[in-house]
Amino acid sequence: MDSLVIKTMPAKAENFKTLQNSCLHMAQWAPQSCVNKNLGGMEQWAKDFKIVDDKTLSCNWYHSTWQFLRLLNMVAVPDWYPFYVETITEVLLENPNAKVFVSACADYGMLAKLHEAMEEYQLQTGQKCNPQITIVDICLTPLQNAKWYADNASIKLETLVCDNIILGNFPESEYDLIITDEFLSVIKDDLKQAVVDKWKYLLKPGGCIVTTAMEGEPTTPEKREFYAQKARKLIGQNPHLFPATFKQEDFEKVMQQTDKFATLHTRHMIQNREQLAHLFRNFNYLQMDIVETPGECVNPTFSYQIIAELDK
Ligand SMILES: C[S@@+](CC[C@H](N)C(=O)[O-])C[C@H]1O[C@@H](n2cnc3c(N)ncnc32)[C@H](O)[C@@H]1O
Repeated sequence: MDSLVIKTMPAKAENFKTLQNSCLHMAQWAPQSCVNKNLGGMEQWAKDFKIVDDKTLSCNWYHSTWQFLRLLNMVAVPDWYPFYVETITEVLLENPNAKVFVSACADYGMLAKLHEAMEEYQLQTGQKCNPQITIVDICLTPLQNAKWYADNASIKLETLVCDNIILGNFPESEYDLIITDEFLSVIKDDLKQAVVDKWKYLLKPGGCIVTTAMEGEPTTPEKREFYAQKARKLIGQNPHLFPATFKQEDFEKVMQQTDKFATLHTRHMIQNREQLAHLFRNFNYLQMDIVETPGECVNPTFSYQIIAELDK
């Protein structure tokens, strides 16, 4: 069998230990804090298409497995995109007290980019900045994880579980910056416009949304099978990437989890640049830079780095 080598480290080397520790917390929290929802969340697609016959399905399969897949660099994460730190730093340099809204996150990954930008700000100005951060998600688990990271890094933040970002009762024109990674590809096509409109509603004049969206086709059964096999192979060949306390039964359990993830996770990818341009047509400035990423089921995958701004 060929040995599979991971080309890109999933996180900066100095942060890898944090990710290894965090995996263990997430795997413990998720079975309790991921709950069945009436509508929405990472389990909606599997429910709609009756992939599993379980009306009580929650997003535990997603949140308890996400960071193990991050160790293998198999899920789309903010670390794949250099523009986050650059763009967030620019916003902070203009407004060190910016109000920042994180519009859903799988774990602390998006917050860590904001943290890097805060450090960059300090490096450039010799001063600390003080962004006011609100993180929302439909599930409590990623918020607990963000809080865990924030406490360790002495970052102040507000976390809110929202039934649904589209319907959520948040104040109008409140935020200078919205950040979220790949939210558009977890949202069905017919709801994408409502999400983008909600972001516009939340932003102050002069505010901007910084996000990414992968371009591609639906996730076929063949892609799912490829993904599950790849995860098993990488886990078998790279045990050193996992927490040092991991035993044989832990590796077995993670392989079962990644099998389930491959079955239940779907992407509603962007079809082309025109679709994105149309979604963001009500913004005054739009930048969409296409970049190559390692990809999830398709390697590599092209993705848009999106910056959409409103006039002051
Ligand atoms: C932002 S997306 C993609 C994750 C991203 N790549 C990252 O690294 O953070 C995943 C998150 O969206 C959340 N989510 C899905 N549908 C939602 C909705 N309608 N409203 C709010 N959050 C939602 C899920 O619970 C999950 O934590």
